[in-house]
Amino acid sequence: MRIDIITLLPELLSPLQHSIVKRAEQKGVVEIHVHDLRNFGIGNYRQVDDYPYGGGGGMVMKPEPLSDCIEQLKSERAYDEIIYLTPDGITLKQKISNSLSLKNNLCMICGHYKGIDQRIRDEYVTMEISIGDYVLSGGEQAAVILADSIIRIIPGAIGDEMSALSDSFQDNLLAPPVYTKPEVWKGRTVPEVLLSGNHRAIDTWRLEQAFEITKRKRPDLLT
Ligand code: 6GU
Repeated sequence: MRIDIITLLPELLSPLQHSIVKRAEQKGVVEIHVHDLRNFGIGNYRQVDDYPYGGGGGMVMKPEPLSDCIEQLKSERAYDEIIYLTPDGITLKQKISNSLSLKNNLCMICGHYKGIDQRIRDEYVTMEISIGDYVLSGGEQAAVILADSIIRIIPGAIGDEMSALSDSFQDNLLAPPVYTKPEVWKGRTVPEVLLSGNHRAIDTWRLEQAFEITKRKRPDLLT
C-alpha cells in the first residue's frame, strides 16, 4: 500500500516514522509519502491560505495549492480514496480501517485553520473522516491515527499475525485482560486457567471475559 499525505505541518506526521508503522515500512508492506503543501504555495510568500468570503474569523486553505498538489499526485497513480480529515466527516470505526487496509493507494489531506475551500472537497475528495466528536487544531493527528489503524492490520505489518485480529473492536468485543510474569505480584495471582496449558479452555475464558467486559464497559457495542 502507498499512502500520500498532504499537509502544511509535515513534522506533525513524525509519529509515523516509529513503531509498527516504521516496521511495516521497512518490511515493504507500506510506503508513506508526506507532501509539504507550502511547496505549492502562491507567490514569493508561498501563500496557502486567505480570508473567508463572507467574513468571520480564521483562515481558509486556498484551492490552487491543494489542487496543484493533488493533480500532480493523481497524474502519477490512481487513488482508491482521497480522504479529507475533518471533524464533520464520518466517525472512524474499526470497520472503516479494515476496508481501507485492503486498498492500494490512499491520499489523505490534512486541513488547518478553518479548513479547506469547499470546492476542493467537491472536486477531489471521495471520503471525509473524523476521529471523534471533539475538535483538533489540524487534521495531522487524525491522519496519524487513521494511518496507524489501517497499516497495523495489513498482513505482514505485525509480527504475530493473529494479534491484530484479537484486538478490541474486531468482532465488536473489547479485548480480555492479559497477564505476564511473575505469577504472583503484590499478592495478586494470574487466573488459573491461563497457567493450565489447556488452549480450548483458555480461548473459552478469553471470549467470556471479552463479553463480560464489553457488557460492563461498552454495552452499546453488543446491540
Ligand atoms: Cl479529522 N480534524 C480535526 N481538525 N479535528 C478533529 C478531527 C479531524 N476528528 C476529530 N476532531
